[in-house]
Amino acid sequence: MDNQDLERVYNQASQHYDGHWLSQAGGPVRELFGRLEWKPGARLFEAGCGTGYATALAAEKLGGKGDILAVDLSPGMLAVARQRLEQSGWNQVRLVCQDALETLSKGGSYDLIITTWVLGYIPLAPFMKAACAALAPGGQLALVVHQQQSPREALEVFSQLVAANPEALEKEVHFDFPPDLASLERHLRAAGLELVQAWPGQIVFPCGSATEAVEHLLHSGAGTAYQEAIRPSHRPELTRRFEAELARRHAGGPVPVAHDYFSAIAVRPQ
Ligand SMILES: C[S@@+](CC[C@H](N)C(=O)[O-])C[C@H]1O[C@@H](n2cnc3c(N)ncnc32)[C@H](O)[C@@H]1O
Repeated sequence: MDNQDLERVYNQASQHYDGHWLSQAGGPVRELFGRLEWKPGARLFEAGCGTGYATALAAEKLGGKGDILAVDLSPGMLAVARQRLEQSGWNQVRLVCQDALETLSKGGSYDLIITTWVLGYIPLAPFMKAACAALAPGGQLALVVHQQQSPREALEVFSQLVAANPEALEKEVHFDFPPDLASLERHLRAAGLELVQAWPGQIVFPCGSATEAVEHLLHSGAGTAYQEAIRPSHRPELTRRFEAELARRHAGGPVPVAHDYFSAIAVRPQ
């Protein structure tokens, strides 16, 4: 799965993303920002701003001062971000359609780099290295990242279906989400960053049925990449079987979908 696939996945999800993802996933972003020290006038880079939820919050935290460059691969997500920023009235933000790793690798002198629910799509090691190099001394990296194999049950059912129907898979889905907090911390340190704090967390979408769970997975973008890996001719049948298996496991009742994540704040030493 490459950047073009991700762009397509998030263009598709863009109109539903806020309702089906940020309803719960905004919480860890607010918590992360609550733990950061905000310096008015800071130069900030955001990798994968999506619909601009964290961007608008950061603009508010900076009190309308400073300079924010927020990039994303998906024009659809950026269009929603533009609306959000226009409505919020913050005008120190530049929203640009770019690959965040490519942009960061060109260097910079940022006081703060933020990235929420994006790493893993971007490989961890090169991202951390580029982020450290693009931070000013004393500058901070603040992140929220999905844990590998999460949401666990949904990915378990997906793997079972694919193992039973290998011909249905059109492409490999491999992302670089960290398996545990220790591995995330190792990546930060290996890049030359000093860990300030890191913690695990979980958000749960209280889906009332297997149908709602599938809607959550497909409309939030979280499951769209996996569906995209299936040949179009096999998608309707496999989606039906996926939903049936979830319903069976939960005896036709509610199907809560739990996403595990890690948050971290790290600093480039002076
Ligand atoms: C789950 S969304 C997160 C959006 C936002 N940060 C939030 O917290 O709501 C993932 C976003 O990462 C973007 N993305 C993935 N890989 C990227 C890359 N290499 N460069 C820029 N954006 C990327 C996708 O287009 C998508 O908008």
